[in-house]
Amino acid sequence: MSDAVGGTGAAPAFTPRVFSGIQPSGGLTLGNYLGALKRFAEKQNEGIETIYCIVDLHAITVWQDPARLRHATRELAAGFIASGIDPARSILFNQSQVAEHAELAWLFNCVARMGWLGRMTQFKDKAGKNREAASVGLFAYPSLMAADIMVYHATHVPVGEDQKQHLELTRDIAIKFNNDYGVDFFPIVEPVIEGAATRVMSLRDGTRKMSKSDPSDQSRINLTDDADTIAQKIRKARTDAEPLPETLEALKDRPEARNLINIYAALDGRTPEAVLAEFAGQGFGAFKPALADLAVAHLAPISTEMTRIMQDVAEIDRMLGAGADRAAAIAGPILARAYDITGMIRSRR
Ligand code: TYM
Repeated sequence: MSDAVGGTGAAPAFTPRVFSGIQPSGGLTLGNYLGALKRFAEKQNEGIETIYCIVDLHAITVWQDPARLRHATRELAAGFIASGIDPARSILFNQSQVAEHAELAWLFNCVARMGWLGRMTQFKDKAGKNREAASVGLFAYPSLMAADIMVYHATHVPVGEDQKQHLELTRDIAIKFNNDYGVDFFPIVEPVIEGAATRVMSLRDGTRKMSKSDPSDQSRINLTDDADTIAQKIRKARTDAEPLPETLEALKDRPEARNLINIYAALDGRTPEAVLAEFAGQGFGAFKPALADLAVAHLAPISTEMTRIMQDVAEIDRMLGAGADRAAAIAGPILARAYDITGMIRSRR
């Protein structure tokens, strides 16, 4: 069915627009920085409109202490800015302040199928064995994520590898909505998973993702770590006794070594191959200090800047509010059209 608010049948051209989000559910790790923040700043400088969101509504799908959530939200805002996101050039805001996200998520809850959501590995991991005790929000999480993106008609979403499945679901929701209502209203989003560090691994176990929820602080570098801590964690990172090889292929069964090479490459803006070309034949005794120096040179200024920005909480809140106003100006008309398409009467105009 296609009507006055529907499409013409021809695929509309959507203006390229970048959207991505990070949960304020604890500190930021090197994984968040290399897989997301650093790339968000690069996208901002490519001349495309960029919208970045602190997804506080997603965070509460598992319990968050309210005072800690407020702190984590502001600290994450500071992390965005310290990583090079300019709130004048990008739109930066916290999700709960733009109600259109939650409203569109409801429409998507009615489009997404139980089976689709039940297959999400993040839900299975986070819910653990006792799924009956997981929140409904944790289950419906991907509908809200799809709404985050679609409420801006965003076309490109830079994320780390772990979010790929959620973005595939976003595409499925958009396709089903468009089919069900006979419209070409929502764009089919492109996941942007690129660079050397789309999956930064734990410093203690190269087969597990670096994560803020890992019980061992030694497994990760936090963006709030000082220079000595960063250097010490890299020195103690698990490795093997072999020298570094000449080819990436030879690192296939050496996940810890591969991870450190990837981190070096991503921090330095080079390919892993180029890093190996420099360090081939050398052992970790030589490589780790070089990596520690590089990591400290990159990350210590970010941590210092975050501390400075956190001195003025009122200014952070003001900046987030201004971002939310700009975000709402885009999201409002798109949600209104989605309501029109689904048959909701605009009775309060
Ligand atoms: P979150 O908060 O877990 O992570 C934020 C971003 O950091 C990336 N990331 C990593 N990248 C590489 N290596 C790692 N070890 C690593 N750990 C985390 C994630 O891939 C992500 O890009 N569901 C999302 C938040 C979200 C979102 C969205 C993202 C909500 N709505 C809409 C994009 C678009 C999440 O939990 O990310």
